[in-house]
Amino acid sequence: MSLVIHKASRLEGVLKVPGDKSISHRALILGAAARGRQTIDGIADSADVRTTMEALRAMGCFVESMPDGRTLVLTRAITPEFEIDAGNSGTTARLLAGLAAARARRCHIDGDASLRKRPMARVAEPLARMGARVVLANGGTLPATIEGGALHGIRYEMTVPSAQVKSAVLIAGVFAEGETTVVDRVPTRDHTEIMLAAMGADIAREGNTVRVRGGVPLEGVHVTVPGDFSSAAYFLVATILIPGSRVHLPFTGVNPRRAGLLNVLERMGAAFSIDALHTGISEHAGDLATAHAPLHGVTVDDPAAIASIIDEIPVLAVAATQAEGRTEIRGAGELRHKESDRIDAIAHNLRALGASIETFDDGFAVEGPTRLRGAAVSSFGDHRIAMSMAVAGLVADGHTEIDDASVVEISYPKFFADLRTLIR
Ligand code: S3P
Repeated sequence: MSLVIHKASRLEGVLKVPGDKSISHRALILGAAARGRQTIDGIADSADVRTTMEALRAMGCFVESMPDGRTLVLTRAITPEFEIDAGNSGTTARLLAGLAAARARRCHIDGDASLRKRPMARVAEPLARMGARVVLANGGTLPATIEGGALHGIRYEMTVPSAQVKSAVLIAGVFAEGETTVVDRVPTRDHTEIMLAAMGADIAREGNTVRVRGGVPLEGVHVTVPGDFSSAAYFLVATILIPGSRVHLPFTGVNPRRAGLLNVLERMGAAFSIDALHTGISEHAGDLATAHAPLHGVTVDDPAAIASIIDEIPVLAVAATQAEGRTEIRGAGELRHKESDRIDAIAHNLRALGASIETFDDGFAVEGPTRLRGAAVSSFGDHRIAMSMAVAGLVADGHTEIDDASVVEISYPKFFADLRTLIR
């Protein structure tokens, strides 16, 4: 499906963005690893999260929506041998590799053409050191076969900044003998650590080091999933770019390791208010509001800052085209290993719209501001590229046609419908 976006004169309104995808995956997967019932409120309704639900069913877990809208996860026993189709979802493949290493006699994990290109050795290597047998295709990608069992704790120094790798090791560590230590030199999203603590794991963080003691059973809990900051980011950037706009996004996740885009956009000249901070749940959420503001270019090259905006860099690139001066993103080579090569995808599309962008192995630089002209762009089969191009289309003259826009299903099926409610 290709979709046409017209230049918008203003965005205004209140929108509750759907539940956080990262937290939804963890609520399901850790629920499957727990004793008793895990109930989840506000789970993301997205293709990736449904992929995790199906995978857990293949493992023998009970995963159902209840009449009150909550999702129930309950595990009596994990099937000894099972197959997982992780579809397009890196989080499903990598976090479940951790659980399979601990709990499966034999598990086969595969994914779609995009996921089959993404690196899996980064997960296989620590899991093998813990005692699992992991065989990957072509020495480093899916399909994977994992023979799990009796694991032992390790000390693991992360070689790439990846919350998915850290989470896989911690999940395996919950079932391993002894202590597992992960040294996370660059702080990445900590949803797994927060949820494990809430579920009774013996887990502690000291500086960059996270320790989990194996053999302490997880207890099912009730999880309230806040709105997904990564989904909110598209509306925040569009609002800031379009004169006269103002939006309010209630109950949106603002975990500092996820919401780094707020700091970058503030440095560029935007302002945000976060009201009614909800602290009764384990993850921080707030009512987030912003309005149009003129922006100026900045450099973002600090590894921790990059990790805190990793999924928002495509939409930040769109903001950069409208900012006065140069915006440079460095140290973001991980963008080349996402659902598409996001550095190339951003550059290709923004050039088609008339922007000035230079790419590097580990990032890009945009010279702004440029008046964007509507053109044909591609999602590159990547949900975050499709949504970022929708934001570009709202500011570009004329109309912008996004090829394969239905890929937004991966994280946010109602994205275009929700966007329409804000356009005035
Ligand atoms: C995610 C971690 C990030 C992120 C992805 C979701 C997670 O990937 O890009 O969209 O839920 O843990 P990496 O951990 O590979 O950096």
